[in-house]
Amino acid sequence: MTAHALLDDAHSLLQDFDIRPLPGSFAAEVVGLDLGRPLLDEDFARIRRAHLAHPVLVFRGQRITPAQHVAFSRRFGPLQIHVQKKFQLAGHPEVLIVSNIKENGAPIGLGDAGHFWHSDLSYKEKPSLGSLLHAQVLPAEGGDTLFADQHAAWDTLPEALKARVATLRAEHSYLAKYEELRARSPWRPALTAAQLEEVKPVVHPVVRTHPETGRKALFVSEHFTTRIVDLPEAESQALLAELFAHSTQPALQYRHQWQPHDLVFWDNRSVTHLAAGTPDHLPRKLYRTTIEGDQPF
Ligand code: SIN
Repeated sequence: MTAHALLDDAHSLLQDFDIRPLPGSFAAEVVGLDLGRPLLDEDFARIRRAHLAHPVLVFRGQRITPAQHVAFSRRFGPLQIHVQKKFQLAGHPEVLIVSNIKENGAPIGLGDAGHFWHSDLSYKEKPSLGSLLHAQVLPAEGGDTLFADQHAAWDTLPEALKARVATLRAEHSYLAKYEELRARSPWRPALTAAQLEEVKPVVHPVVRTHPETGRKALFVSEHFTTRIVDLPEAESQALLAELFAHSTQPALQYRHQWQPHDLVFWDNRSVTHLAAGTPDHLPRKLYRTTIEGDQPF
């Protein structure tokens, strides 16, 4: 085969897809791409660039298997295994089942995932770079996911508050809301000593710099941030409450209304998110992978 023919052959594998900004423009949808087909480096590079420009990317109509979901996620980095091992997908420990479905009275997935605003795994030394959530079963109503742009949260913070928080650090803990959630849900078992060891509290900057774009973002959340270090408790709580309210205000949000086979890939270094809630009687099931990121700075 000539060099020309080889090049033509490779180009025939290139996919013809569009990236269309969604309202708010930090989210965008990818239309016409099939992640079940081989993805050339050129197409992958285009997706990477799009993801840096739009930290919430919605890939429409992805009829992919869990193995394909895992393989695509792995192209962005090593995957993380969630501490709630009982909700791993059989044969795919990297996939966490997010679901309110019960089979024979037992939950099949983590049904209360994301009920407070958060950035995934911010309680780890190396929080998630990004998460990929793939729709399996969607409720007829509800079940939306809200995203809030944390670069805009930083950009719009009043100057005096920017100066006050710029060099502060905060503690993040997986256990911050654990007992509260456990008291009202069937999904949270008591953690074993080994699990507790996996989720020891960590300290991160309140304002982080995105390692790839250099943009600053607020990095605190209602779900996992417990206190600002070196501040008296009352002052720390008051400051966190102010930051939580600012960082999740409606003007900074994109509401994702799920469509069948959506795969949503968000950048946890740029956005926080919240599961907006699903009526208990309507089944909802999604598969989630998380990619390990850098230590925030
Ligand atoms: C999550 O927080 O990862 C789950 C979000 C959702 O279920 O909408």
